[in-house]
Amino acid sequence: MTHKLKPVEASHTEPATALSMQGVHHAFGKREVVKGVDLDVAPGEVVCLLGPSGCGKTTLLRIAAGLEVLQQGRVALNGGDIAVPRARHVPPEKRNVGLAFQDSALFPHLSVLENVTFGLKGEPPRERRRRALALLEQLGMAGYADTYPHMLSGGQQQRVALARALAPAPQLMLLDEPFSSLDARLRDRIRDDTLHVLKKVGAATLLVTHDPEEAMFMADRIALMRDGGIVQTGTPRELYCAPCDPFVVTFFGEVNELSGVVREGRVLTPVGAVEAGWLAEGSQAQVMIRPEALRISVRDAPPGEHRYSHVIMAKLLGRSSLLHICAHGEDGREAHLHARMPGVFLPAEGQAVDIHLDLSQVFVFPSAAAGAGAGAAHGEAEQDHRDYAHSHDGQ
Ligand SMILES: Nc1ncnc2c1ncn2[C@@H]1O[C@H](COP(=O)(O)OP(=O)(O)O)[C@@H](O)[C@H]1O
Ligand SMILES: [Mg+2]
Repeated sequence: MTHKLKPVEASHTEPATALSMQGVHHAFGKREVVKGVDLDVAPGEVVCLLGPSGCGKTTLLRIAAGLEVLQQGRVALNGGDIAVPRARHVPPEKRNVGLAFQDSALFPHLSVLENVTFGLKGEPPRERRRRALALLEQLGMAGYADTYPHMLSGGQQQRVALARALAPAPQLMLLDEPFSSLDARLRDRIRDDTLHVLKKVGAATLLVTHDPEEAMFMADRIALMRDGGIVQTGTPRELYCAPCDPFVVTFFGEVNELSGVVREGRVLTPVGAVEAGWLAEGSQAQVMIRPEALRISVRDAPPGEHRYSHVIMAKLLGRSSLLHICAHGEDGREAHLHARMPGVFLPAEGQAVDIHLDLSQVFVFPSAAAGAGAGAAHGEAEQDHRDYAHSHDGQ
């Protein structure tokens, strides 16, 4: 990332990144699970490390925390090296980082207040108490200061754990799936409270999550990981609207996948032509269409008139409606597509429809099989499969 370099006195370095990890590799035995990661967190910035289970997120966070010894690369906090392979390892308690995990254990024999003040050394007791109470207040736990952990629900314990991690005003917060053991409604509230506290205290934060919605909710920037490497880093909008790779598209939700051959710089699909001028003429392309890219309007035609694109099924999901559409291309080809329309929009089965394509939510990539020379004979767009694995619908 780039910094604005301020003119500073010779003894100072530039305004440092809160956390900088460069060229980090990590292996357990012979198995490399982190494969050359570069990652920065700026002061006050919330960065989400997002990716499927097992891709190496926790390992990377533990390296930043000092819970794993760095094997290769460099880790710096505020411009100062804290880990250099075989040369330097600042222990976790000396790194001035706040840690919270999925099931952060509180000290059972200490009250909520004592848990939060525990890490506050070298300050008068009254100041510690004031700071702890202020954080508990912001996390909705002010009324529980004298309560003991076993009397709290899981969500309340997690709030206390976050307050405890924040209390020493660490330079960096490292949070590993801190909300994932909570049920959905509670999780939304704690996420919201946590986001506001992090922004209020201006804590640089690296938050690990496997949940794309959580990442978009919390993050200034997202680093999306797969198999030990970072696939794309950017704002939520950059990843969602300008994905660099099919994996990035599918990770953020269900998508209709079509394929076709590039002809005159375009790929023809049953819902219209899409631009693919940067791909080689005649090459196989993968066309990914988000369900919200298909804008459906009912067409004035008798029901059961199957010359046109029509509705197979329509389901209300809550905030949106999911339509199963049989799309008819100009060339007579058909595809079964999922369209997502806001609100309650439930046209009858068999209803003829028009489909308008929002090209900002359509992404074209060279076909994965292209390099293998497969599929070149397939002419027009045809349906491959759809990835429903990540359907985060609007409940
Ligand atoms: N202490 C360990 N010893 C051996 N393998 C480990 C250890 N910790 C994690 N792994 C493996 O490393 C990979 C990455 O794990 P992890 O960083 O926990 O992934 P994530 O947090 O993304 O789910 C996984 O395959 C996991 O099984
Ligand atoms: Mg993990």
